Order: sequence, then structure tokens, then C-alpha cells
Amino acid sequence: MTLETIVNDYKAKTSRSRQMYEEALRVMPGGNSRTTTFFDPYPFYITRGQGARIWDADGAERLDFNGNYTSLILGHAHPSVVEAITEQATRGMSFPGPSEHEVKLAGVLTTRIPSMEVVRFTNSGTEATMNAVRAARAFTGRSKIAKFEGAYHGTHDWVLVSVSPDVDKAGSRKRPKSLAYSSGVPDTVLKHTIVLPWNDAEACVKILEKHGSDIAGLIVDPLLANAGMLLPQPGFLERLREVTERLGIVLIFDEVISFRVAPGGAQARFGVRPDLTTLGKIIGGGLAVGAFGGRAEVMNYYDPRGGKGRISHGGTFNANAVTMAGGLATMQELTPEAYAKLEALGERLRAGVKRALSKAKQPAQVTGLGSLFWIHWTKKRLSDYRSSRPADAERPLRTFMGLLNEGVVLSQRGLGCCSLAMTEADVDQFLAAFERVIGKES
Ligand SMILES: Cc1ncc(COP(=O)(O)O)c(C=O)c1O
Repeated sequence: MTLETIVNDYKAKTSRSRQMYEEALRVMPGGNSRTTTFFDPYPFYITRGQGARIWDADGAERLDFNGNYTSLILGHAHPSVVEAITEQATRGMSFPGPSEHEVKLAGVLTTRIPSMEVVRFTNSGTEATMNAVRAARAFTGRSKIAKFEGAYHGTHDWVLVSVSPDVDKAGSRKRPKSLAYSSGVPDTVLKHTIVLPWNDAEACVKILEKHGSDIAGLIVDPLLANAGMLLPQPGFLERLREVTERLGIVLIFDEVISFRVAPGGAQARFGVRPDLTTLGKIIGGGLAVGAFGGRAEVMNYYDPRGGKGRISHGGTFNANAVTMAGGLATMQELTPEAYAKLEALGERLRAGVKRALSKAKQPAQVTGLGSLFWIHWTKKRLSDYRSSRPADAERPLRTFMGLLNEGVVLSQRGLGCCSLAMTEADVDQFLAAFERVIGKES
């Protein structure tokens, strides 16, 4: 089936969304406040979410395997989260001072993540990575930052480098060039950002040793989630830990997505202890949130009681009472049994996708860990950003739109996740829809 046919089917099902989009175009550039959720011809407008499902403005029901880009680990409107948020909201939304829930949530996170000796809250993962980068610079007195090609760490300038570069312009695989991901990123950012190739420890060590004394921090998403959930090869994260320690570089694990994979996040799963960790998404119960923390001697630059290197960290809504209440209620639901269920759902889904792809002889594969997965439209051995480029660039979009028409929501590029609101029957519903979508391709 062509993309045009799929889009026409989508348009026929979403007339109210189209009207809303036309209205939005008059008041917002592209009718939109969030680049990642936009797609042609227009996104569907969501009016309600409950459990594993969402409903759009035309009343259509869809199974949600996007989960607001992996944030909603309990599904939509989980009763205990709704109760905690409502209870707090009736007593006030946000205050010009700290609240009890903030201390409790900080306690839960620092207990679950031993490397996070202390933590501070922000309103987004972007602010969390921005502050972690700043902390690394303050602590080391150095100015450069290293990141991986294909890694996404939010929307502040310092990480908008080589997120999704054109491979033809990105230099050699072993020494990738720093390329701006967006207009408006100044050259000085590119000069201060070193880009590394994922899963190539030798190449990384060489680059880090070359720039070592100038590099303040290395920021690492341990799953390289936004380049396709490309798991680190055995020993890779350990090598990064060893070289950063030797060169005095602050190792930052960006666990905004990967915290989902275990009570202690990916660092617990892989057994590597970073200096700093950034969090977001699941820790806010569905509300805007972020957090950063780690070694006390680094984080102490944020201690407002003074000191030479003090970093100012304001934020009108940092650790607001409602978000903290929602986050705390969410964490309380995340018991060992809950993680076992998420793991089983993720396994079932990945195994089912694998079976469907091989039955339909499709040039594709699935990656992931725990409740997370990514469907790749290439047969190449996946190791880094470059190997994960789809062979047919339009195929992820055809799959995404095809699934929407079948009543299932994924993300445009192939990222998906299971939530605790799901059952095995929901996963099977996904698999049946997926089989129908790929069946229409052949
Ligand atoms: C790994 C990673 N880091 C940081 C961010 C930024 O988080 P936020 O969208 O809350 O600013 C994201 C968002 O998707 C992410 O996936």
C-alpha cells in the first residue's frame, strides 16, 4: 500500500482533527508546540486517555504504545496517580517554597539509584541535561562536552549536535564531525562538542584521550534510545567508565528514557556507576518533570548556602507540589512485580514482532529492553547510529500511519513501549494490527 493511500484512509477517519489543525495553523507556526509529535498531513487531536487507550477528537479509540514518548509507565489516568494529584491540587498547585512530596520523591530516587547521592528537580529532561552539563563544567573547570552520534538529550543548545546527522556530511564513522541539529545553534557550540561513535570503544578512547584535558563531561544515553534503542555491546559502558575516570571527565548517564528498564535504571542493569544521572518522563506521573543528581561533591555546586562555585538554579515550577505528588504515587506503583510484568509484556511484543517479520519475509528487525522496543526497517547488523538508518526512508512512516488506521499508536520513527495498564491481550492486539499493516506492504 502506498503512503498516499494510507494517508487518505487516515484523513477519512480524522475530520475533526483536521478542523482543529486548521484552526491551530492560524495561531501557531505549523499549528504546533512540539516538533516531535507533528506529522503530515496533520496530527490527530487527543481528547482522553484511560489505561492503555486514548481517544481522538473524532471519537476513535486507539491502543497507546507511545505512552507520551515512554513517560506513562502506568498508562493513562492511573487511579492512584489521579488521586494523589487531585488531593494535592485541592491544597494548592505550586508554592514559593519546597514541599514534603519533593523530599519524599528525592528519597525514593536516591534509594533506587545508589550513584545518585543527591538530586534536584527540574521541569523537563532538557533542563536536567542542561544542568548536568553545567555541573560537569563547574566541577572540572573545563569547557568541552562529549556526546554520541545519534543521541538525543533534549532541546538546549549544548546537546543539539549530531542528533540525526546526514551521514554523507558527518565525516568518518570512527571520527564523526560535530553537526548542528538545528538552525540557531552557534558555531561555538560545535567547537565545544565532541562527537563519538556508539559501540566503538577503541575509537571513543582515542578521541577522548586526544581532547581529554578539555572535556568536562561525557553524556551517554545507555540505550542510545533515540537512535533506535541500540544496546551497548558488552564491556562498552565499562570502557567509557574507565577512560572518563582516568581523564577526570564527569560521566553523565542520561536516563530520561532508560530509567524505565529497572528500579535502578539502565546503570543498575548494566552494572556501571556514572558520576551524574539525568531523569525525566516516568518520574512525574505524567506531568512535566526532570531531575539531575549524582556525586555529592559535583552536585554541591548547587548548594545555595554559598561557596565559590555556586550554580544558581531557579525555576518557578521546579519540584512543584502537584508533579511531585504524581511522581511519588507512580514510584510507589513500581514494585518488583510491576517490573516483572513490564519485562514480560516487552518480551512478548518483541518476540511477536520478530515472528511476524520473519513470516512475512520483511527486511526488518526489532530491538529493545524491558518494556521498550524499536522496529527497524533494515537488515543491517545494528551497532550505531549509522547502521540504524532505514533502508527505505518512508517505511517507518507508512508503518506508523498504517498502525494508526488500525487503532494502534506508536511513534513515527519506530519507538514504542508497553505500560502497566496493558495486558497480554493488548500486546496481541498490537501484533495482529502489525501483521495486517506489514501484510499490506507485500
Ligand atoms: C534521552 C533523553 N534525554 C532528554 C530528553 C529531553 O526530555 P524532555 O522532552 O522532557 O525535555 C529526552 C526526551 O525525549 C530523551 O529521550
